[in-house]
Amino acid sequence: MSERLEDIAAAMVADGKGLLAADESSGTIKKRFDVIGVESTADSRRDYREMMFRASEAMTKYISGVILYDETIHQKAADGTPLVDIIKASGAIPGIKVDAGAKPLAGFPGDTITEGLDGLRERLADYYKLGARFAKWRAVIDIDVSKGVPSATSIGSNAHALARYAALCQEAGIVPIVEPEVLMDGAHDIDTCYEISKATLTKLYTELYAARVALEGTILKPNMVLAGKKSGKVSSPGEVAEKTIKLFRETVPAAIGGIAFLSGGQSDEEATANLNAINAIGPHPWKLTFSYGRALQAAPQKAWGGKAANVAAAQAAFAHRAHMNHLAALGQWQPKLEQAA
Ligand code: 13P
Repeated sequence: MSERLEDIAAAMVADGKGLLAADESSGTIKKRFDVIGVESTADSRRDYREMMFRASEAMTKYISGVILYDETIHQKAADGTPLVDIIKASGAIPGIKVDAGAKPLAGFPGDTITEGLDGLRERLADYYKLGARFAKWRAVIDIDVSKGVPSATSIGSNAHALARYAALCQEAGIVPIVEPEVLMDGAHDIDTCYEISKATLTKLYTELYAARVALEGTILKPNMVLAGKKSGKVSSPGEVAEKTIKLFRETVPAAIGGIAFLSGGQSDEEATANLNAINAIGPHPWKLTFSYGRALQAAPQKAWGGKAANVAAAQAAFAHRAHMNHLAALGQWQPKLEQAA
């Protein structure tokens, strides 16, 4: 496979394929395992992820790449095969989360800044040797308008950090996924999400240009434009699609390698329906696909429940969600296909 950044980025958003975000930190995966009553240990995390990466139907047909956590990129399957080799054998590209998490931004209560730039050049060189060809850095922008959150300082600092990260990735031969996540947790309406996302993406691309990042060798991982969860409103797929595409046309250069959405707390079916609606109103200047964590894994986690006897059922649940999102990435999904599972 080509090692050119733009070729790797193009493969990440190949027609009908998207990314599996399996890069939950040890703290986050413990929360997910708590829900299904599974103790989180290095072995149980390995067993769970091995189950996903060996799900050959989902992996070979619908998944272009997998975002890994540091522990996982070093782990071996139960039979001793490195997990990275299992991913590569399926035709998918291994990737790695390299940020060190969002921490409170000093002086700006409610805002966060994502850490992890110190030593990043050396870590990227190590991850490249382990097989990673793309990376992920997630900036977190919360919305609480009454408290002045997010501040311009938070948007600016996070965009600057994303640009420094992206430049270091490209120097290392690694495609940066730039993820400026405007959270959907707040009580805001859809137009507020639109405005904050616009300010965030405008600043992000200003910083990426200033850092001399080659946009063709980047992937944007954005939120969709929708009403916050605490608003009590659920935006319709039509409205999400219209406002998300309007936002991107105003702020996202056509030159980038592609767009792969996060699911951000949408239900499995919402995340699929919204991606489908976005693609159905195309053509667009960019490929738009999925890079889902929760919306791809909730169903297989539930089916698995930590039991080896449930591996086939869990893999089938993963294949179904991946198939639905494959169709959504092509604008060909229909609600009735969900019942066929
Ligand atoms: P969700 O799809 O669960 O939001 O996770 C995607 C991700 O990688 C967040 O950083």
